Order: sequence, then C-alpha cells, then structure tokens
Amino acid sequence: MIAQPYLSQLFSLDGRVALVTGGSSGIGRAIAGALARAGARVVVVARGEAALADTVDELTNDGCRAAWVSADLGTRDGVRTAAEKAADVYGEPDILVNSAGINLRPPLGELTDDVWDATMAVNLDAPFLLGQRFGPGMAERGYGRIMHITSQQAHRAFVRSGAYGVSKGALESLARSQAEAWSPYGVTCNTLVPGFVRTPLNERLSSDPATVEALAARTLVGRNGLPEDFAGAAVFLASRASAYVTGQAVFVDGGFSVH
Ligand SMILES: NC(=O)c1ccc[n+]([C@@H]2O[C@H](COP(=O)([O-])OP(=O)(O)OC[C@H]3O[C@@H](n4cnc5c(N)ncnc54)[C@H](OP(=O)(O)O)[C@@H]3O)[C@@H](O)[C@H]2O)c1
Repeated sequence: MIAQPYLSQLFSLDGRVALVTGGSSGIGRAIAGALARAGARVVVVARGEAALADTVDELTNDGCRAAWVSADLGTRDGVRTAAEKAADVYGEPDILVNSAGINLRPPLGELTDDVWDATMAVNLDAPFLLGQRFGPGMAERGYGRIMHITSQQAHRAFVRSGAYGVSKGALESLARSQAEAWSPYGVTCNTLVPGFVRTPLNERLSSDPATVEALAARTLVGRNGLPEDFAGAAVFLASRASAYVTGQAVFVDGGFSVH
C-alpha cells in the first residue's frame, strides 16, 4: 500500500499549528474540524464561549488536539490580545484561517458609519492585523498558509452587498498583497469563495424558502453549500500540496459563480 504515505506526504498537517477565527460556527467550524482531523493542533477564536467549548469538545472527543480563545475581533486591541493568547497555546501558527465575519445587510442608502466601521473591523481589519502579526514569522520559518473566507460579493453586487461586499472585495486584494509579500518565503495566501451556505450568518435570507430554492437553482450542482463542503479545499490550501497555489480565489460554490 503506497497510497497512505503518498497522501500523507501531500496533505498531512501533522506537526502544524492552525488558528481559525470564527472557528466556532458554520464554515469556520467545519474548516477547524478538517484541519484538526488532518493532524493540525487547532486554536479556534470567536466571542461566544459556549460554542467555542462545544467545538473543542467535539474535536477532542474525536482524538484531535484543539483549544479555544474567546475574543472580540471587532476591535484592534481585541485582535491583538486574541493573537497573543492563541499563540500561547501551541506556539506560533503555521496556518491562519480568517473565517470570522459579519453581514449586517442594510440597503446601501440606509448604511450608517457604525455599520460600515463594524463590518470593516471584523471582516477586513482583523484579517489584516492577524496577517501582520503572523505572516512575517511564517516567512522567516519558511512555511505558512493564510486563507481568508470571502464571498460572491467580492466579485459581483448581490443581495444588497453594501459594506459587506466592499469588505470582501478588499479581502481578496489583501490576499494578493500578502501573496506578493510572502510567497517567495513559502507562505501562500488564498481565499475560499463560498456560494450560499445556510449558517447563523444568513438566518434572515434562509427564512424565505423561495429564496433558498432560487439560490440552489443558480448553482450547477443543484443545491446550496454545506459547511463540510469546505473541508477538502481547506486541507489542500493548508497543506504542502498547495505550495504553488497562491494569490488565488478558490470558488467552493457548486458552480454558482459560473452559471
Ligand atoms: N454562509 C454563507 O453563505 C457565506 C457566504 C459567503 C461568505 N461567507 C463567509 O464565511 C465566513 C463564515 O461565515 P459563516 O456563514 O460560517 O458564519 P457564522 O456561522 O455566523 O460564523 C461566524 C463566526 O464568526 C464569529 N464572529 C463574528 N463576529 C465576531 C467578532 N466580533 N469577534 C470574534 N468572532 C466573531 C462567530 O462567533 P461569535 O459570534 O461567537 O463571535 C462565528 O464563529 C464569513 O467570513 C462569511 O462572511 C459565508
């Protein structure tokens, strides 16, 4: 049997440390689980302690190594404190996944400064600050993987994107800038682009069955996304196998974006 060692060489995350923001819910939780099950020690960061503890319990019960840090990534101090606390658990991360995000959805004409600032703080500033904190160290050590979760709205106006779409468009640009800065030193930076995935983030949209059905019909696969659809792509982008993939937007959307 040569398959197992071959697959391990490509994809195993044994010995790696990962930090996953928003790792207590939805897409982030599925990614944290995938990285942990592929061998990484994972620290999940979000605010709600019950969901964080539940995530870590699920993973440790499965024999994975995982821990949580509760922090508000909506303030710069919160991000900095979270970064230090997370790095204290298993050491400096090799893999950084920015999945924490908010979508407040007021129509653009009613969008206040506060909503704009809150959106940019969590969706864009936090990934930037975490990249500044961990990217240079990854480059110095010669291995790093940074992943941001963006959105269809980084590429097109859609369901009143407003501030959210702007934050995600900028996040795609941030990934390219990070890729330019650190790829020569073994640090790849990419984004995962979901279609529509039913999670607490889009409860309001999900409450309308006709909208949910119409969104599924816009995919090529014929269904909306599930958090676990991101597991394989995340392990790939976190692993040695993706060493030559950088600055890319990887659409995990059932073909939504090309239909
Ligand atoms: N679901 C979709 O259809 C979809 C589509 C496109 C893109 N995305 C993107 O995918 C990512 C994950 O979304 P999801 O659907 O999985 O959402 P979700 O289930 O609502 O999860 C969001 C996560 O972010 C955390 N979070 C939110 N605000 C935070 C803050 N201020 N500080 C720290 N953590 C915070 C939440 O935990 P706490 O609330 O406990 O802090 C939670 O763990 C987001 O970036 C989202 O924009 C989702």
